[in-house]
Amino acid sequence: MSQVLPGDAPLVHDLIGIGFGPSNVAMAIALSEHNARVGRQEAVTAHFFEQQPRFGWHRGMLLDDATMQVSFLKDLVTLRNPASEYSFLCYLQSKGRLIDFINHKNLFPLRIEFHDYFEWAAAKVDDMVSYGHEIIAVEPVVRDGVIEYLDVTAQSADGLVVHRARNLVISTGLRPAMPEGVERTERVWHNSDLLRNVESLEGTEPTRFVVVGAGQSAAENVAYLHRRFPRAEVCAVFSRYGYSPADDSSFANRIFDPAAVSDFYDAPESVKRSLMDYHGNTNYSVVDMDLIDELYRQSYQEKVMGAERLRFLNVSRLTGVKETDDGVRATVKSLITGEETPLDADVVVCATGYRPADPLGLLGELGGRCHRDDQGRLSVERDYRLATDDELRCGIYLQGGTEHTHGITSPLLSNTAIRVGEILDSILDRGLRAVGEARPVADGVAR
Ligand code: FDA
Repeated sequence: MSQVLPGDAPLVHDLIGIGFGPSNVAMAIALSEHNARVGRQEAVTAHFFEQQPRFGWHRGMLLDDATMQVSFLKDLVTLRNPASEYSFLCYLQSKGRLIDFINHKNLFPLRIEFHDYFEWAAAKVDDMVSYGHEIIAVEPVVRDGVIEYLDVTAQSADGLVVHRARNLVISTGLRPAMPEGVERTERVWHNSDLLRNVESLEGTEPTRFVVVGAGQSAAENVAYLHRRFPRAEVCAVFSRYGYSPADDSSFANRIFDPAAVSDFYDAPESVKRSLMDYHGNTNYSVVDMDLIDELYRQSYQEKVMGAERLRFLNVSRLTGVKETDDGVRATVKSLITGEETPLDADVVVCATGYRPADPLGLLGELGGRCHRDDQGRLSVERDYRLATDDELRCGIYLQGGTEHTHGITSPLLSNTAIRVGEILDSILDRGLRAVGEARPVADGVAR
C-alpha cells in the first residue's frame, strides 16, 4: 500500500478502520462484498490499521476446552448475508470439517476454532490491513472553515505514517481492568495474559494460585490452573455467595437480536437501565452452567477424597497484594466478618473484567467537537456515528463503547454482521465524496 511521511500531503481513503479485531474484519468483508457488487465509481476505498503484528483475538484466553458463547451463525457475515463466502460454514468446508461439525450437533464451536475462523476470514481481506501499526493520533484537516478530512497517524517499527480519511471506524475493543490499586507484575496477572504468562511457570512447581472474580473468565481460569498444575491449590476469591449461571434461555437471548438494538436505542433512559438490570445476567459476572457443574463436581469429589485443592473464598474481597521474595501475598477480607486472611501464592490472577477503550484518547482536540448526553457520555446516532458539531463533515463511527446507547451487544459478536452493514449504508447514504472531488484509484490511494 502507498503511504506518506509526516509533512507530505496524505492520500485520502473513504474509510480508515482503527483496530482489526472481529468488528473491523467484518467491516472489511462488508466493504469487499459491496465493492465486488458495484461499479468502480461507487467502490469504497478503505484501509485498516492493527497494532498487533498479525491477527489475534484474545490469544491469552484461547484455552483448549473453552467454547464460544454465541452461536456460530452469529459469525462475521451470516446475519447480514447468509450467502457470504466468509461464513463459518464456508470456513468449515475449506477445512474439510463441515460434516464433522454437523454431526457434533453443537451451535457453540471451540473458542480456538472460532479464532482460526477469524484468522482465515482476516487473511482473505488482508490487502486492506497494515499490521504492526498503532494509531496514535487523529487530527482535523480544515478547509474553508469546515473539517473536511481526518489525518490518522500510525506508528510502526518503520516510524510514523499519516493517512487521510473521510470516515473513521474506531473498533479498538476492550482493555483489561485490574482491581483498584493493583498493578500487573510478573506474579500478578490479568486473565487476558494467562496463556502467555503461564509459560513462565514451565519447569516450576507452583503450590498456590489465587484467582479473583466470579465471571466466566474467572471460572475458566480456576478450572484451567487446577487441571494444568495438579499439585497446586487454586483459591477462588469473589464477593458473591456462589457462581451465578449465565441466562442463555431463548426469550432472554432475544436481547442480543438486531431488533433489540433499535428497541434499546429508542427506549427512555430509565427503561434502558431496567433492561440492563434485567438482562445483565446474560453476559456479566455469570458463568456457563456446564462449567459451574464441573467445578462443583470436582470440588465435591476432592472433599470425599480428603484432598482439597479447590477452595472458594466467597463473600470476600482482595484487599491487597504484595510481592515477596519467592512469590506474592494476597490479603483476602471476608465481607461477613471483616477478617483478613493472608494467602501466600505463586501467582494472583485478576479475572476482573474489561472496559471499552476510550475513543476520546485517540481523537485529541476532535473530542471537543463530539456531543455528550446529560451524563457526559458520548452521543451516538443510531447508525453508530458520533454526534458532532456541523463543522465536522467526516463520519466517526464506533464499534464498541456504545452500550449506553445501543445496548448489551455493543462489545459482543452477536450483532457485528448487522452493525457493519448499517455503518456501510450510513456512509453510502451520506455520499462518499463531494461533487467534482476526484475519486481515489482502486488501490485505495487518491491522486
Ligand atoms: P477486539 O478487542 O477483539 O479487537 C480490537 C483490536 O483493535 C485489537 O486487535 C487491538 O489490538 C486493536 N487496537 C486497539 N487499539 C488500537 C490502536 N490504537 N491502533 C491499532 N490497533 C488497535 N463475545 C461474544 O459475543 N461471544 C463470545 O463467545 C465472546 N468470547 C469472549 C472471550 C473472551 C476471552 C473475551 C475477552 C471476550 C469475548 N467476547 C465474546 C467479547 C469480545 O469483546 C468480542 O468477542 C470481540 O473481541 C469484539 O471484537 P472487536 O473487534 O470489537 O474488539
